[in-house]
Amino acid sequence: MPTPSPGQTPGAPAAAALPAAAVVEVRGLWTVFGTGANAFAVHQDLDLTVQRGEILALVGGSGTGKTVLLRQMLGLARPTRGSVTVLGHPAAEMGREGAASRVGMLFQHGALFSAFDVLGNVGFALQELGTLPAALVRDAALVKLQMVGLQPAHATRMPADLSGGMVKRVALARALIMDPPLLLLDEPTAGLDPSSSDEFCTLLRALHQSLGLTVVMVTHDLDTLFALSTRVAVLADKKVIVTGAPREVVHFAHPFVREFFGGERGRRALLALAPEAPAAPTSPQEA
Ligand SMILES: Nc1ncnc2c1ncn2[C@@H]1O[C@H](COP(=O)(O)OP(=O)(O)OP(=O)(O)O)[C@@H](O)[C@H]1O
Ligand SMILES: [Mg+2]
Repeated sequence: MPTPSPGQTPGAPAAAALPAAAVVEVRGLWTVFGTGANAFAVHQDLDLTVQRGEILALVGGSGTGKTVLLRQMLGLARPTRGSVTVLGHPAAEMGREGAASRVGMLFQHGALFSAFDVLGNVGFALQELGTLPAALVRDAALVKLQMVGLQPAHATRMPADLSGGMVKRVALARALIMDPPLLLLDEPTAGLDPSSSDEFCTLLRALHQSLGLTVVMVTHDLDTLFALSTRVAVLADKKVIVTGAPREVVHFAHPFVREFFGGERGRRALLALAPEAPAAPTSPQEA
């Protein structure tokens, strides 16, 4: 039975034809919060590799450390032990500017700065750099706004006056302001109605293709997962227990996998996929 290697997922876009290259490497990661009797480990000896050009869906139960792992890739949180490397650099040492040019993140609760208008939100990281004239920051932000399907007329709106779908688009434009090759999405379609969610998936797929992005996406939404991901990594028992193409991972024998992909929702989402020959999922060591 063929075993998909990372970056060689069936049906993956053209970027997978490039020589395999790791964009993110997580090795022997331990994350421990609290001290003494209150210490608890969220990650224990976790390994994960994200290859250039893939859209990796990271799934796991609530509180299993998915957001913490994304924050570690962004350099906002440090591993207790082990390493998180992004494009060859330890993520925790990238600094704010280095991080913004390498990694963009759409945060779970998508919060925009409520005191800034749309353009102020999108251009925030460039503005903060303090090296570009305001007019250039504005132009760059307008380009990104157009890229996510918003009109220049939206530029002066305040966050409170935007729909949920528009907030996600503005947050995406903000994440992409410095053209990072790696995009982290934390529950990108949570809270959207089905049609806004579909539209956002279409936008993400188009940007992934046209910008050649590598994407790590945390999601509980099976429609989003099956619509976008080229590979799935399952976080359970404090580590990545399995990685593989979506249609293969669903068959992995583990209670969380059964619960997550089982039921009517899972069957419906799976049925929407075109039939393809099954292949075995890989263990994290192989990934
Ligand atoms: N800075 C912190 N200090 C202490 N505990 C933390 C900190 N950050 C996260 N945690 C804890 O780590 C665990 C994992 O949190 P995390 O937010 O990564 O979960 P998650 O997998 O993203 O969950 P959800 O699906 O609900 O978003 C939780 O128990 C959380 O309370
Ligand atoms: Mg989370």
